[in-house]
Amino acid sequence: MSNYHIKHLEEYFQVYRKSVQHPEAFWEEIAEEHFVWRSKWDRVLSWDFTKPEVKWFEGAELNITENCLDRHLPTKRNSTAIIFEPNDPQEEAQHITYGQLHERVCRMANVLKESGINKGDRVCVYLPMIPELAYTVLACARIGAIHSVVFAGFSSNALAARINDCDCKMVVTSDGSFRGNKIIDLKGIVDAALEDCPGVEKVLVAKRTGGKITMKKNRDYWLKPLLNDAYADNDAERMKAEDPLFILYTSGSTGKPKGMVHTSGGYMVYTAYTFKNVFQYREGDVYWCTADIGWITGHSYIIYGPLANGATTVMFEGVPSYPDYGRFWAVVEKHKVNQFYTAPTAIRALAKENLEYVEKYDLSSLKVLGSVGEPINEEAWHWYNNNIGHGKSPIVDTWWQTETGGIMITPLPYVTPTTPTYATLPFIGIQPALMDEEGNEIMGIQVDGRLCIKFPWPSMARTIWGDHERYRDTYFTAYKNNYFTGDGALRDEVGYYRITGRVDDVIIVSGHNLGTAPIEDSINEHPAVAESAIVGFPHDIKGNALYGFVILKEIGEARDRDNLRKEINQQITEHIGPIAKLDKIQFVPGLPKTRSGKIMRRILRKIASKDTENLGDISTLLNPEVVKEIMDNTL
Ligand code: WTA
Repeated sequence: MSNYHIKHLEEYFQVYRKSVQHPEAFWEEIAEEHFVWRSKWDRVLSWDFTKPEVKWFEGAELNITENCLDRHLPTKRNSTAIIFEPNDPQEEAQHITYGQLHERVCRMANVLKESGINKGDRVCVYLPMIPELAYTVLACARIGAIHSVVFAGFSSNALAARINDCDCKMVVTSDGSFRGNKIIDLKGIVDAALEDCPGVEKVLVAKRTGGKITMKKNRDYWLKPLLNDAYADNDAERMKAEDPLFILYTSGSTGKPKGMVHTSGGYMVYTAYTFKNVFQYREGDVYWCTADIGWITGHSYIIYGPLANGATTVMFEGVPSYPDYGRFWAVVEKHKVNQFYTAPTAIRALAKENLEYVEKYDLSSLKVLGSVGEPINEEAWHWYNNNIGHGKSPIVDTWWQTETGGIMITPLPYVTPTTPTYATLPFIGIQPALMDEEGNEIMGIQVDGRLCIKFPWPSMARTIWGDHERYRDTYFTAYKNNYFTGDGALRDEVGYYRITGRVDDVIIVSGHNLGTAPIEDSINEHPAVAESAIVGFPHDIKGNALYGFVILKEIGEARDRDNLRKEINQQITEHIGPIAKLDKIQFVPGLPKTRSGKIMRRILRKIASKDTENLGDISTLLNPEVVKEIMDNTL
């Protein structure tokens, strides 16, 4: 029996038991047999959730890119590592072999070094889904620089905040990006951001759109000539297993975004191991995850997990609706995709369109379908199962987070029987617990509570960049000796988990985590606004959409409401990005508050969802009269 590749349900239970009874011995064996290390660890695991401090494979040295690239060269030099599928279907796809990828990453690593980037420096990567994004991420890892990829849909303000939070010395970007029929001026956004980023010394610019941009002297350099001049080989830096590999920002319920720090050794082991099993990847398969590398899903399951397994991974630059709603299925047919991993919001959007967009294409190559990012509703699940999988390809509903680094609760296809809307069973080594509001673990089946994880796993984030206290407060104080996920879940009669959604002030819109506080801060900066509160409400395609309740100042009262709505959304777009725009904005005379002055979001959520039958006791509010007034005017 190979613990690395699980093929039957009994095997899953057996390996699972071993992984929780003897976690150190278990992970040691996986790490030892399936990866290359420059030197071995002194200790597999040390941990203390009160500090919190977690270390995996301490004392070991490695370079993750040797595991993703060099070690495959003897057998896979000419096999495809990355298939790049451009935005425009008329443009030819690129098949980048392991040999080519290795060379390009080495060149890029040398460019970074010659540009003054050293081990431990932070490099901000603000690129569209083009091959240079993969080269840059891997090149950072190769020289031990810490990459901080910022999704290229964030505004210049959001970009600047992320650059400054971790003191990036360099930004790697492109002249522009193609998204469907739009061209986005990425370099212009970077230029605007850098007005507030004194620490950035250099900007490297990949050419993609050929749009007109300005290059600032002694700061901005075209990437291509530098790559051409660089050596084609590069000795990977020896990294400690616990050295930071990357920072990735995620929204919190309060304050500024959290720079989650992931380290090298454990992250590699866990993402590779989950990739192999959750997608049942076999030699020669073509795997496609439609996420953007700007999110954790792209980091773990477009780049690191697949490449560590020597897999072929598709990188798609475009959007599901361009040139029409059949694009995903055209790409599946074209590249004979075997594993397809996407988000419920995309499924819902495509399910609304004519089935002809699906039926035109041969989807017989598909073996596994994946879902990630938010709960998948039953209707979307069935549409995916019937029309894309034809009832033959299991759907893996994978629950995990930026903070967890890898997939945590999931079926294994052809192993775990699936049930719509259930993420089913914990992955190997993962010990979930459900808690009540008093902090006690709820045992047994057919129960629901707040989802925690009791024991460390190799790919968990180790800290928040520059703010370890916030890391402790956010994840390790609510439930003693447990990692708190922020999600609610239920466990059914067979022990399957179903994720019910966030229990904090994070709202998931189209699969993107958005914290309410930064959006409210942005709205409140509008000169006509006195105060605001944001809640989520159910939306057919996005899963949730944002509803803003806004109190105007006196000067706002005389203004045209629709213009104000536009200005507020414009302001949010500038501060955060278009993904955080509000679907509905209601101007209200007041917000329901507790006597201690806290906004009662529970009531606003019910009003926004038009679920006002059972508002609960509002008599304890400071201002109960305002509730009726708001209800009478809901949008
Ligand atoms: C939600 C994405 C239900 C959840 C990998 C989590 C899910 C948050 C699922 C993390 C799923 C993710 N079912 N909910 N299969 N997957 N979520 O950090 O609320 O972007 O806490 O990581 O998305 O989002 P993040």
